[in-house]
Amino acid sequence: MLRTNNCGALGLAEVGQQVTLAGWVQKTRNKGFMLWVDLRDRYGITQIIFDSERTPKAVFEQAQSLGREFVIQIRGEVIERESKNPNMNTGDIEILADQLHILNTASTPPFTIEDKTDGGEELRMQYRYLDIRRKPVRDNLLFRHQVTLAVRNYLSKANFVEVETPYLIKSTPEGARDFVVPSRMHKGEFYALPQSPQTFKQLLMVGGMDKYFQIVKCFRDEDLRADRQPEFTQIDCELTFVEQDDILDQFEGLTRHLIKNIHGVDVGEFPRMPYEEAMRRFGNDKPDIRFGMEFAEMNAVAKGKGFGVFDNQEFVVGIAVPGAAEYTRKQIDGLIDWVKRPQIGALGLVWAKYNADGSFKSSVDKFFTAEDLSAWAETTGAQPGDLMLVMAGAKDSTRSQLSALRMEMAERLELRDPTVFAPLWVTDFPLLEWDEESQRYHAMHHPFTAPKPEEIELLATDPGKVKANAYDLVLNGNEIGGGSIRIHDGDLQQKMFDLLGFTPEEAQAQFGFLMDAFQYGAPPHGGIAFGLDRLVAILGGQETIRDFIAFPKNNSGRDLMIDAPTSIDAGQLDELALVIQPKDEV
Ligand code: AMO
Repeated sequence: MLRTNNCGALGLAEVGQQVTLAGWVQKTRNKGFMLWVDLRDRYGITQIIFDSERTPKAVFEQAQSLGREFVIQIRGEVIERESKNPNMNTGDIEILADQLHILNTASTPPFTIEDKTDGGEELRMQYRYLDIRRKPVRDNLLFRHQVTLAVRNYLSKANFVEVETPYLIKSTPEGARDFVVPSRMHKGEFYALPQSPQTFKQLLMVGGMDKYFQIVKCFRDEDLRADRQPEFTQIDCELTFVEQDDILDQFEGLTRHLIKNIHGVDVGEFPRMPYEEAMRRFGNDKPDIRFGMEFAEMNAVAKGKGFGVFDNQEFVVGIAVPGAAEYTRKQIDGLIDWVKRPQIGALGLVWAKYNADGSFKSSVDKFFTAEDLSAWAETTGAQPGDLMLVMAGAKDSTRSQLSALRMEMAERLELRDPTVFAPLWVTDFPLLEWDEESQRYHAMHHPFTAPKPEEIELLATDPGKVKANAYDLVLNGNEIGGGSIRIHDGDLQQKMFDLLGFTPEEAQAQFGFLMDAFQYGAPPHGGIAFGLDRLVAILGGQETIRDFIAFPKNNSGRDLMIDAPTSIDAGQLDELALVIQPKDEV
């Protein structure tokens, strides 16, 4: 054994013991006659002292050469510290060293390995193994382990079986592009990496597994954001002989258990909100319900007063921002610029202050009297002291712009408290969405999602109106999971493929295996997948999933540490029968 104890364990109870510790030199302080070393490992930091009087001379001299991040082993006696450090759990003691072994030297690290580092994000990603030595990153990985373990235990106890499904598969459409893998043995043919194990978990249900889960990597070639990585992890689940409510109850139970287990908070029953209501009240299918600022539809109080911007648009909608009537002109101009940025794309923003003294002041005083604005206040629920922000335009785009503004205002007003957990089920999603570009329907969730049985007939006449037995789990404004009841009938599945624009031949070529399976006694089934990275990040009070992934990709999908993706050599290309076109021909 290279150590008798770790660096986070010793206290007054061990005073007088001889111990051997091993770890990394976090920092040294040298007073000439005395040298202190902060020795770090996964468990914490212990202070080591080399004393010119009490430490053997050779050891004391060797200690002078220690540098940051050297790996050392020391032996010594646990002694009580004169000046204790209440911020460290080993802060009552130090080790008076009498032996030192330098196990490895270290070059000066490119950034400081402290809780607050001087390293930028890209540099830290390039040297991720050094970043992982920092407590905040290490704590995130330990936290992820804790959540994952709690999930595994909970599901195993509830009789779910973890089954692995293959990574080299055929494309499963989940709305993103596939990453593909060329086959050496079948030249010109490709595997696809799974966007999710969707079809396999359904086949496990046909196989009679009854309750399946898997903590599984998924791969999607899509644009990256703080809550998206090209490879990410799902808690993927499927159940047989269930209806939608059974699934919601089961996974509400899991989520409640996690929040209780980790934060000691009982969040109670989750609200269930139909998609249409979420869009109407929040302009968004993943509303953050930790705060209000609900949407008020204002056509009735905003149109017909001679203000062209409202009169000429389909839809006028607003929110009341609590306590923001005191915003200065400059702050309001800042908001107007913010909504006009291309990422939001609004044409403008109308504002009206409901001042604390009960008076009104607005950007449209020319068109709206105090009485009119008082009607606005009634509609938006504004109180004296609030600021009303109003947008007009086409319904869908205006809702999504105002929704972005609502989140921004919540951010500015610090209403997004990361220690509060507000889960919510959004249900009754539309089955299909119309895509202008391709001029056809796309599955809103995926092609295996079942329509609500009472709406199947509408498929033939008005497919856009059909609702699905599909649901998302939303936590603090983030979609952390989604699922549906599946189609288990070959004919209905064929009809779905047809609606989605697959010819019978294409459907057969791509999904023949599934439709074949449906001929052999497919049971009713349904399921859900959680985004584990998102779940962990949000439970950890954050939203950037990179911080909870040991080796993440950067915003352009690169692994900066191993430098991937890279080109491959000509021999490998040849073997795979791949030809790379020179860049200017692509
Ligand atoms: P869906 O596509 O909604 O459903 O994915 C489920 C959950 O996975 C997470 N997620 C991601 N997390 C990080 N990076 C990404 N690129 C990313 N994409 C998705 C989200 C999302 O809610 N097979 C279905 C599930 C089912 O029907 O059972 C599916 O994959 O948190």
